[in-house]
Amino acid sequence: MKKLAVFASGNGTNFDAIADAVQQGQLNAEIVLVVCDRPLAPVIEKARRRGIEVLAFAPKEFGSKAEYETMIIERCRQAQVEFIALAGYMRILSPLMLAAFPQRIVNIHPSLLPAFKGKDAIGQAIAYGVKVMGVTIHYVDETMDGGQIIAQRAFDVLPQWSHEEIEQQVHAIEHELYPQTLRQLWEE
Ligand code: GAR
Repeated sequence: MKKLAVFASGNGTNFDAIADAVQQGQLNAEIVLVVCDRPLAPVIEKARRRGIEVLAFAPKEFGSKAEYETMIIERCRQAQVEFIALAGYMRILSPLMLAAFPQRIVNIHPSLLPAFKGKDAIGQAIAYGVKVMGVTIHYVDETMDGGQIIAQRAFDVLPQWSHEEIEQQVHAIEHELYPQTLRQLWEE
């Protein structure tokens, strides 16, 4: 059974989807830690309700990224974390973190990478007027939303869809694709 840490900054709907897959026996893993860089983010309450250990911290209270990442790595080691899934964690990892878990950190991003990296990828895609959108899961490197692609799923954007409807479609795909991709990765 893989000991998994989920890193998130926001609502945590992808965290919930992974946790549901674990609970339903669809994913041979245990979420041993949730790491969150926004102490008021809804994902924290979601994790605590499931009885999962949470490491919540405010980056501004640390002198540097190296300082808080050292603290995260230490907590991951204590929890015997083997694999890390970024699920809406809106920070770039430093080489320190990447070296601690080589080829063991993946991310989900709401676009067909390499298009629309960074914040508000859905808004960027809508502003560009693309007719096909999608979701990408990839290994993480030291660049923003960069690293080897593992899985992608695309969908057609219907002309009448609102921003909200597109977002719902993205989330529906993410919540299915993330647990499924983790399962496939660990079976290899
Ligand atoms: C997800 O759509 C995820 O793809 C995106 O943040 C959202 C988090 O939602 N991640 C990125 O934009 C990474 N650059 P959630 O908190 O409900 O899971």
